[in-house]
Amino acid sequence: RGIVVAIDGPSGSGKSTVSRQVAGRLGLAYLDTGAMYRAATWWCRRREVELDDAAAVAETVRHMPLSMVTDPAGPRVVCDDVDITAAIREADVTAVVSKVATNLEVRAELARLQREIIASESTDPASRSGGAGVVAEGRDITTVVAPDADVRILLVADENARLARRARERHGSADDTAIAATRDEVLRRDADDSTVSAFLTAADGVVTVDSSTLGIEETVAAVLSVITE
Ligand code: CDP
Repeated sequence: RGIVVAIDGPSGSGKSTVSRQVAGRLGLAYLDTGAMYRAATWWCRRREVELDDAAAVAETVRHMPLSMVTDPAGPRVVCDDVDITAAIREADVTAVVSKVATNLEVRAELARLQREIIASESTDPASRSGGAGVVAEGRDITTVVAPDADVRILLVADENARLARRARERHGSADDTAIAATRDEVLRRDADDSTVSAFLTAADGVVTVDSSTLGIEETVAAVLSVITE
């Protein structure tokens, strides 16, 4: 059986970049579960489903024709034969994704899909990793989706570091104006996600890595050393 690495963290902790690089180095598949919540949001909007109608949203997500490409060198999200990898990062999806992600029936359905992908990557020779395993990242992977993962890591960073990273990603700079423009987006989503982010405390057996003062390369090295310990 292959290895399963679960990494959780808040926005701006660097979990996506770091998880991708770790998966690439170890020859594992890479699963971005946040992208699945974003895809569910994109799909509901495309189907013109009212996001406040929890039952309709859940039903729509259960029939979502989603396909996750788990190549760490080029992860992609395809829904209904449309490549939505870029579209799901747009501000219009980011602004409302928490509405979909706090829907408990949606969480149950996506967790089921995530466990299916993790099982296939860690056992099936025909999977992208050849059964070598997977790095799965999100907000509830160490606790809900894969509490039995071989390695479980909570990647944290203080608020200033998270805001500076997001500001650089979105505005190409971490000056005062860029930070101010980012603050709303990040802190509002943290608050909107609070039922999900309540999961973001290190459960028993979960190793915390603090990336506040680390660069990407150093964070990758820290995570790799936890895995090979
Ligand atoms: O932009 P950022 O990297 O923080 O977000 P993301 O990882 O793309 O996740 C987008 C949204 O999906 C989050 O704001 C949560 O609402 C939701 N999410 C979740 O509820 N559970 C997960 N395991 C992953 C993401």
